[in-house]
Amino acid sequence: MHPYPWVVPTLPELARDHTDLGSDDLAWLALLQADWQIIADLSFADLVLWLPDRDGTGYWAAGQMRPTTGPTALVDDVVGTFVATGRRSLLDAALRDGRIAREGDPEWRDDVPVRVEAIPVRRGSRIIALVARNTNLHGVRTPSRLELAYLQTASELTQMIAHGSFPYRGQRSDHADSPRVGDGFIRVDAAGRVTYASPNAMSVYRKLGQTTDLTGQHLAEVTRALVPAALRPDEESISAVLGGRMPRDTEIGNRNGTVIVRSIPLRPTGEHVGALILLRDVTDLRSRDRELVTKDATIREIHHRVKNNLQTVAALLRLQARRIGSTSGREALEEAVRRVGAIAVVHETLSQTYEEEVEFDAVADQLLGLVSEVGAHEGTQAGSVRLRRTGSFGTIGSDVATPLAMVLTEVLQNAMEHAFAGGSTDSRVGTVEVRARNADGRLEVTVVDDGVGLPEGFDLAASSSLGLSIVRTLVGELSGTLRIARRADDGEQASGTIVELAMPTRAGGS
Ligand SMILES: Nc1ncnc2c1ncn2[C@@H]1O[C@H](COP(=O)(O)OP(=O)(O)O)[C@@H](O)[C@H]1O
Ligand SMILES: [Mg+2]
Repeated sequence: MHPYPWVVPTLPELARDHTDLGSDDLAWLALLQADWQIIADLSFADLVLWLPDRDGTGYWAAGQMRPTTGPTALVDDVVGTFVATGRRSLLDAALRDGRIAREGDPEWRDDVPVRVEAIPVRRGSRIIALVARNTNLHGVRTPSRLELAYLQTASELTQMIAHGSFPYRGQRSDHADSPRVGDGFIRVDAAGRVTYASPNAMSVYRKLGQTTDLTGQHLAEVTRALVPAALRPDEESISAVLGGRMPRDTEIGNRNGTVIVRSIPLRPTGEHVGALILLRDVTDLRSRDRELVTKDATIREIHHRVKNNLQTVAALLRLQARRIGSTSGREALEEAVRRVGAIAVVHETLSQTYEEEVEFDAVADQLLGLVSEVGAHEGTQAGSVRLRRTGSFGTIGSDVATPLAMVLTEVLQNAMEHAFAGGSTDSRVGTVEVRARNADGRLEVTVVDDGVGLPEGFDLAASSSLGLSIVRTLVGELSGTLRIARRADDGEQASGTIVELAMPTRAGGS
């Protein structure tokens, strides 16, 4: 049951409302909270951060951390609660004396014996907060070597908090993969020799190839022997981190595995006594990363090859077109070149994104360029033809993009090829306009030219020529509609042809 029905206040809110802590103080507390899981785990205890209020009337609970290594002593959440001065003598004592305060006798809370210790959090010359360490004594057994090593380290860290030498400022690369106590724990002495390695830490080193016990060995030397120079950080980091002289983290590894190592030098009374070194085996994580990278690179490479292959096909067809004697044969091959080119354009656009959607305007504009180039080759009779797009295609499904590009290419090509082929209007500049509109999941595209118009008796349904057959088929596949008409028949003053396309912007969409 939560004592407060409203939203739990945050540390900055509590600090603002009840204390005179500055932003540097809050940054210090945030740094402490970033690492206090380690202290909770090493202590097998719950930690509560208490902020003394500005009037000296009591303390506000601003943070709480449960241990992952043992039973909790605090079943209820306490953040946001207040205790008055005088109610918790240990908090009062720690604040008054600036020293860790502890009592021999456990407090009983809900039938659980809890040992409490109050640690002053010092920043510079001031005590800015208190950390209460609450140990559920039901969870305490005769301590093993592991537990003794944990507790010893926890006590050194809490002394450092009280002296203002922990947390370390700006030490972390803020690894999301930061190792926890349970991942692997090593204690080294002032000379960097291992005094205790937890079973998990031993497993990590065995994975790297270590065959003998770590205890008594110089951790930096052992590691140097296991890890090839290429796969470890510079000499300085390795001795600094594994020797326990620098608060840093780093990644090391060899063919067998990859490990994140983090060291926290211990200076409980100011003098360097050794370090806490946490290890985490991230081999699986890293090999998954590598797999992803390789997959990514493979996909890119395939895209690249597909594009090259399309270009090769187009080049071969172009070569062949040049050698062919008959005009119709050459024209057919040139059309094929253009069709392949249109596919290449869309392929290129699609391969640059993993999205399900494509901004089609860029594709359409490239197609306009492609068609006008080919048109120029063929020496369109009307001297020059202006091609332009108005409106926007917006985003369309990537599965719609390729067929749509093919359709558009055919229609544009027809306008270039047939609309201005009369030869009687040499001086006139022809125009082909592509109007696009994307709304409510439907795309409407109109291609109009001001050329000679469709031949007498033209019947779309009856036409068996390749270009319009492709258009008909693809529009059908896209569940779209197609209409081709003389603009004059549409009641327009202008000459020329109008092609109207409409389709859903996504395949299978409505
Ligand atoms: N914009 C246009 N202006 C004039 N005629 C066109 C236009 N579009 C298509 N046509 C007519 O429709 C016919 C069929 O076109 P298509 O199926 O693409 O075959 P092709 O372009 O190979 O002749 C063309 O031959 C042409 O007579
Ligand atoms: Mg055609």
